[in-house]
Amino acid sequence: MKIFLNSEELFDEEKSKKFEDLIKYCHIDFKEEKTFKNLENLLKNNQNEERIFYFSTSSDFYETICKSLNDYKLISENSRVVLEKPIGKDLDSSKEINEKVLGYFKEEQIYRIDHYLGKDTVQNLLALRFSNKMFVPLWDANNIDHIQITLSESVGVESRWEFYNEYGAMRDMVQNHLMQLVCLLAMEPPHSLDPNAIRDEKLKVLNSLRNIEEKDMKDHTVRAQYVAGTIDGKEVQGYLDDGKSTSDTETFVALKIFIDNFRWSNTPFYIRTGKRMSSKNSEIVIQFKSIPYSIFDNYTMPNKLVISFYPDESITLNLMHKIPGLDEKMKLQEVSLELNPPRSFVRKNEAYERLLLDVIRANPTLYMRLDEVKAAWKWTDKIISAWQNNITPMETYKAGTNGPNSVVSMMAKDGRVWHEH
Ligand code: BG6
Repeated sequence: MKIFLNSEELFDEEKSKKFEDLIKYCHIDFKEEKTFKNLENLLKNNQNEERIFYFSTSSDFYETICKSLNDYKLISENSRVVLEKPIGKDLDSSKEINEKVLGYFKEEQIYRIDHYLGKDTVQNLLALRFSNKMFVPLWDANNIDHIQITLSESVGVESRWEFYNEYGAMRDMVQNHLMQLVCLLAMEPPHSLDPNAIRDEKLKVLNSLRNIEEKDMKDHTVRAQYVAGTIDGKEVQGYLDDGKSTSDTETFVALKIFIDNFRWSNTPFYIRTGKRMSSKNSEIVIQFKSIPYSIFDNYTMPNKLVISFYPDESITLNLMHKIPGLDEKMKLQEVSLELNPPRSFVRKNEAYERLLLDVIRANPTLYMRLDEVKAAWKWTDKIISAWQNNITPMETYKAGTNGPNSVVSMMAKDGRVWHEH
């Protein structure tokens, strides 16, 4: 195995220069079809080359861009297209946009990106679950009390207010990143690492999500918007002050989710994400059940597996351990077992780096298939529409906090707590 000490040691001036020489810039305004002529001129001598188009725009423009590329005969059998999420704003608009793109590219040429799938720690979920015997018999409702996923950010919506305001946290983070994480944590073992084998299993999870009924909507969903507060000692504006307009777009979401299948029957998955929270923190907590009977006098904490991908990439298993000493009665304490190689030995890959390499290699494993995108919209649409009817009222939270109090009570009502640092 090659061990990298740090990225500076990897940097090779000569190779970097050669790479730079291969980069050509060409300006196109996709609202002005004739500007595609510039791209045609750039590419005209290379009809059969493999071309990858990356649409990092709002999905409203995908059709227009496809049409112009097609009019200028820039799309061939060897072309691939990368589509940024979120595709559409709901199931119907997503279907429509996908159909439009499918008029120009075949499904196997379309790569729907979700950059969370490019994160090493996220891919490591597959390694952790399916290559370690010790976790295999424990990964189910009999042994796991619940799972928590937190994707919190201290940044606000910055210069993206107009865009974000159309989408909100549900469409920006839950429908894609959080749903994909739930899939990887909950899926059955795929028969191989074949792209479709993995995606088939993820799809089954999405199709097994229990719809949140209107009567449960208030207890199982929280939506909120940040107001002015303080982060790291600095005062920050509220969402509406940032946007200078009224809006009922949520910047925070918390959900209690159930997956109705044999493995997960009645095991809650609590997920939360928000902007302008106290810190940026991305982590998954697998909370195991208590031992059936304790022979010890002091309380034994149930085991917990904490998979963190920001700020540190780490996996920690909390176990009970005897406090060394000569006490008459045995005393226990919780200790953390670090499951990672020292970070200094590992080169940190950027999620996009991995995904772009995969599209060049024509490997769609870490990209979302159309049916996954549709299934995720189908489930989130029901919540969004209940929210539009104000079934779960919009709350506010102070910037620099961990969301509104109701997110704490969502778990407290079940006798559980969020894992905080
Ligand atoms: C993007 C969202 O997909 O993910 C952003 O559109 C969010 O709103 C970002 O800030 C978070 O990604 P990461 O990798 O920094 O956790």
